[in-house]
Amino acid sequence: MEFNALPINENVTNNVKRVESAVNTAVRGYEKLASLVGGGRKGPYDDKNFEFVGGARDSLRMKHYDKSLRLLWKAEHHLPQGNFRDMTKDEKVFMSQAKQTLNKKERIQIDRFSSDEYKELINREYTQEQKQAIINILAIIGHGEAYAWMVSAEVLTDCKSTGGRAALTMQVLEEAKHFVVLRELMLAWDCDIPRFTVWEYIVLERTLKSKGMEKFFGMNVVVENVAMGIFGMLGELPGLEILKMFHLDESRHTALPYNYFDEMPMTWWEKNSPFAQFRRLTMVLPAVPMMASLEKDMAIIGVDSLEFGGAMLRKIAHMKDRVGFNTFIPSSVLKEFVNDGFNLYASYSRPGHTTRRFVEADTVMGEDMQAIEKELFDLYSTGKKVTELASRKILDWRKAA
Ligand SMILES: [Fe+2]
Ligand SMILES: [Fe+2]
Repeated sequence: MEFNALPINENVTNNVKRVESAVNTAVRGYEKLASLVGGGRKGPYDDKNFEFVGGARDSLRMKHYDKSLRLLWKAEHHLPQGNFRDMTKDEKVFMSQAKQTLNKKERIQIDRFSSDEYKELINREYTQEQKQAIINILAIIGHGEAYAWMVSAEVLTDCKSTGGRAALTMQVLEEAKHFVVLRELMLAWDCDIPRFTVWEYIVLERTLKSKGMEKFFGMNVVVENVAMGIFGMLGELPGLEILKMFHLDESRHTALPYNYFDEMPMTWWEKNSPFAQFRRLTMVLPAVPMMASLEKDMAIIGVDSLEFGGAMLRKIAHMKDRVGFNTFIPSSVLKEFVNDGFNLYASYSRPGHTTRRFVEADTVMGEDMQAIEKELFDLYSTGKKVTELASRKILDWRKAA
């Protein structure tokens, strides 16, 4: 390449370089000293190596950032009745070409959901009582998504490595999308949207107030498992198919602590600090009374909230053990404790109740979502089947509707 290079004064530019080097040594040296007393450089960025502190960690980037971009879904496509305009021109062309290949029945299905008849569809499919029950259940996670957005944004500033930051950036983006899309979806149902229960408030606030990567426990282990449970339970229902996309995203978020700590392991103290262990316990236990609060709404759509809670707790226990978030009480004992709590509640509230294994249940519907969870939790390694009870109840309810 031919450039018309300009003449410069070599002496002056060399002096400029020397001055910069001296000021750099002074500033960096001062920052290093200040860091010993809690001050110093704020950005955990390693400009000498062109990396964030923690290194490249490309495999973390590939498992989360790259995969999230491959699986990125657009609200305009999945919630066409909403006011989102997030598809590119090329995506719109591709979708209209793909539509040509559908048969008449499939096209009617797409057209139906693309029109302003969404409200008519849900009013036809559900009674007002059923609609309100579904919105009450979705509100739990609607508010949870707002906290997931805030928490992941803070974890993004606390996490290490270029790969870790790329992974968290995608989670922030996806939680933002979850909140605004779920909000739009829920508002279309013309129901009251309740505040969250005090049990959920405690878990979410304590998660946001947790320090550093400990936030992964409250958010990616506890709350994400609740979210997967709710999306997995509702994603097969008419007008709620978009929740399958949420379920897919949340499964990636749930895997993030495992992949992150696999690259940059927690210290012994981080795993076993008595304060952290106690704090984790106080974030799992509010799930017990929360299931009692949900009983009425879940019963309306044919789901036993204690089965839902049992499945959720089993998955949380599995994940926390895999990641190394210890909680004083071993998972096997914790599961029995919660199972006993659910049976005690049921023996008071359900005439003729006989003791059951609520922690063996599962309320996830649909083959796709079950397959995702199977991969994630290896739940069925013992050949155990998803409980048929909840599925049967949903089918009975659909037939009756
Ligand atoms: Fe989310
Ligand atoms: Fe999430």
